[in-house]
Amino acid sequence: MSVSNPYRPIESKVIEVITETPTIKTIKMKPKEEIPFKTGQFIELTVPGFGEAPFTPSSRPWIKDVMEVTVMKVGKVTDEIHNLKKGDTVGLRGPFGNGYPLETFIGQEVIIVGGGCGFAPIRSLMYEFFDRSGQFKKLFFRGGCKTPKDFLYKKETAEWVKRDDINVVLTVDEGDGTWKGKVGLVTTILDGIKMDIKNGYAVVCGPPIMMKFATKKLIDMGFKDTNIYLSMERNMSCGIGKCGHCRIGPYYVCKDGPVFQYSTIKNYPDIWD
Ligand SMILES: Cc1cc2nc3c(=O)[nH]c(=O)nc-3n(C[C@H](O)[C@H](O)[C@H](O)COP(=O)(O)OP(=O)(O)OC[C@H]3O[C@@H](n4cnc5c(N)ncnc54)[C@H](O)[C@@H]3O)c2cc1C
Ligand code: FES
Repeated sequence: MSVSNPYRPIESKVIEVITETPTIKTIKMKPKEEIPFKTGQFIELTVPGFGEAPFTPSSRPWIKDVMEVTVMKVGKVTDEIHNLKKGDTVGLRGPFGNGYPLETFIGQEVIIVGGGCGFAPIRSLMYEFFDRSGQFKKLFFRGGCKTPKDFLYKKETAEWVKRDDINVVLTVDEGDGTWKGKVGLVTTILDGIKMDIKNGYAVVCGPPIMMKFATKKLIDMGFKDTNIYLSMERNMSCGIGKCGHCRIGPYYVCKDGPVFQYSTIKNYPDIWD
C-alpha cells in the first residue's frame, strides 16, 4: 500500500475528462503523491462534499503520477464525478485489495472476457500484457457491449484488433448501420476458440449478469474453476476489511478481492447480485 494511513485521501487534480459513451467518462488525475497499484486493485475516489466510491484504475500501473478511472454514471457520487472539469480537486485513497495474478499467467494461454464497463480494469490489464508481450503463450480477448456506441476506448480496441500477440473478437448485442463485426451476446463468441482449455486461464469482468453467463459458459467449455478469475463488485464502506459491508461468505471483497478465483466463491449465495 502506498499510503501509511489508508483513510487519508491524497489530493489529486483532474487533468482531463474524456467522454467515452453517453453514460461513461474517463477521468485523468494527477495525485500530489504517487499512487502505485497492481492491475485489478481498486482505489476510493472522493468528490469533496459528495462522498466517495470505489473504482478500478483503467490506466497503466507503471505510470504512478497519473491515474485514470473510467466511471459509469449510476447515482449520487458518479453523477458528481461526471460533472468534474479539468482543474477540479478530488481525493484518492488506496490502492486496496488483490489484483490479477500476472505471474500465474506467464507462459500460459489466457482469455479475457469483458463486457460494458468491465473494459476499464481490462484496459489496465491489457497494458500489462502488451508491456510484457512475448511472456504469455497465447492471449485472447472476447469483448461485448450492448450497441456500437457503448464501446469504451474505441480507438485503442481498434488497435488491439490489429496486434499479432493477441486474438481479439468484439461483438454487440444489437448492431447498427456502422457496425461490421459480430452481433450477439459475448458468450456466443466463445464458441470454437482455439486454445488449450484444460490448462488455460480466463479473466472475466463486466456487469454481474454477463459475468454469470460467461463463467457458466467457460465451465461448460471445460475450463477449471480454479483457472477462472472474476473481478467482483460489492457495496463498500471502509475499503480495508473492517466494516463487513462487502462480504461474500467469509471473504471481504475489499481485502481478499476484488479479484477472486471462481472456485473460491462459487458456493456462496448471491455472488452475481
Ligand atoms: C472494487 C470495485 C471496483 C469498481 N470499479 C468500477 C469502475 O472501474 N467503474 C465504474 O463505473 N464503477 C466501478 N465500480 C462500481 C462503483 O463503485 C459504483 O457504481 C459506485 O459506487 C456507485 O456510487 P453512486 O453514489 O454513484 O451510486 P448510488 O447512488 O450509491 O447507487 C446507485 C446504484 O449503484 C449501486 N451501487 C452503489 N454502490 C455500489 C458499489 N460500490 N458497487 C456496485 N454497485 C453499487 C446501487 O445498488 C444502486 O443501484 C466498482 C465497484 C467496486 C466495489
Ligand atoms: S468495505 Fe468494509 S470490510 Fe470491505
